[in-house]
Amino acid sequence: MNSTAAPTSTAFTAPAAEQALIDTLPPGFRWGVATSAYQIEGAIDVDGRTPSIWDTFCKVPGAIDNGDTGDIACEHYTRMPADVALIKDLGLDTYRFSVSWPRVQPGGRGGVNPAGIAFYDRLVDELLAQGIDPWVTLYHWDLPQELEDAGGWPVRDTAYRFADYSMLVFDALSDRVDTWTTLNEPWCSAMLGYAYGAHAPGRKEYPAAVAAVHHLLLGHGLATERMREAAPRKLDIGITLNAATAYPASDLEPDLEAARRADGMGARLYLDPLVHGHYPADVIADLATEGIEIPIQEGDLATISAPFDVLGINYYFSQKFTGFGENGETAGEDGLPITRTLPLNRPRTAMDWEIVPEGFTDLLVRISKDYPGVPMVITENGAAFEDTADTTGYVADEGRTAYFASHLAAVASAIQQGADIRGYLAWSLLDNFEWAYGYDKRFGIVRVDYETQARIPKQSALYLKEVAQQHRSK
Ligand code: NOJ
Repeated sequence: MNSTAAPTSTAFTAPAAEQALIDTLPPGFRWGVATSAYQIEGAIDVDGRTPSIWDTFCKVPGAIDNGDTGDIACEHYTRMPADVALIKDLGLDTYRFSVSWPRVQPGGRGGVNPAGIAFYDRLVDELLAQGIDPWVTLYHWDLPQELEDAGGWPVRDTAYRFADYSMLVFDALSDRVDTWTTLNEPWCSAMLGYAYGAHAPGRKEYPAAVAAVHHLLLGHGLATERMREAAPRKLDIGITLNAATAYPASDLEPDLEAARRADGMGARLYLDPLVHGHYPADVIADLATEGIEIPIQEGDLATISAPFDVLGINYYFSQKFTGFGENGETAGEDGLPITRTLPLNRPRTAMDWEIVPEGFTDLLVRISKDYPGVPMVITENGAAFEDTADTTGYVADEGRTAYFASHLAAVASAIQQGADIRGYLAWSLLDNFEWAYGYDKRFGIVRVDYETQARIPKQSALYLKEVAQQHRSK
């Protein structure tokens, strides 16, 4: 064997207890990887694409580490066939990707842009030719700039624009795509985009962010209803949420309250209307103390709770919450109750996120109890680490590999405890544009050398390949 060739086996052994759990994953479990359009495609001004809020945000000085942008990213737009071949080589059966709204419907209104949809048409064909199941995410954060100029997600009309756009994609691809996700992580779109200003469009207006939550969910419901009606056969339609376990720091009332509030704004504000058809009363009351009302109109909750087939869960970390300030106070200067995090004292990833696999199990078990009858797929899970490549470009990313093993075991443990989880998609196929962190933070199971655009599978990719293979051969 050529001594400089990249290794083909992982030389990684998961701890026995984790391996024993991973061995219990059920037959038919899906194995895959996920990406999103703006994070990998590049080619921002070809074939009629117009700017999204991320193109605009990347130009704001200081918004993105290093001044990075998605202009070039991983050049996936031109390298797509080779990237699909990579997924095939890794033996994974599912690829979750997102469609760029301003490629398919420039400006966010009107008919389909043939050159824009043609890319996804080719991608779907390529995936099917390689025996990989395509999983479409309709919105992974790249709102056409014109729609933001008209008010963005805080404005009700954006929900209707989203449903129209969704149908353009659906009409073009539903003959071949079986699995559809409307929104990816609406919490991020609403809160990071409109409350904290860390993501595009960079606004810091809390009431607008709450309105954005409602209009995102409404957009999901409208799109779901229309896709369902137009579906040529039984399809799986759903939504992907980012969620975590909010642990209280103690049994003291302020800590329990802080964890309740964090969980309310992070998980229940989405899951309750989607599954139960109403917003959580405690969250509505919390918002009311801040003078904020969710702009619900008649019929909205029936639309938002339109039945769906698959709940995508993206999990990265969990946190511990306290309701006490540094000096033991329980209210801030604004008179509102304090909610802040305390360390769980766990090892951290390069994102500074603590590694908490049991938070994953607890979350999945809890969702299965509080929202029964909703099948789940892990649509993202992964970690950024400070990767170092050897002279061949190979990264022995033991930390990321161990993260996958412990989190796969966490999923298996949740299934043992009754959660209905049908598959696991790793984030991400490639190192890519990590939003406000630019290219500095690498989540890929495949290394991207941004100088040459070479792709080199890391140890973690080989590990996932082995796990999937072993699982299928049982
Ligand atoms: C979730 C988002 O969906 C994805 O775009 C992002 O890169 C990962 N989290 C990692 O932060």
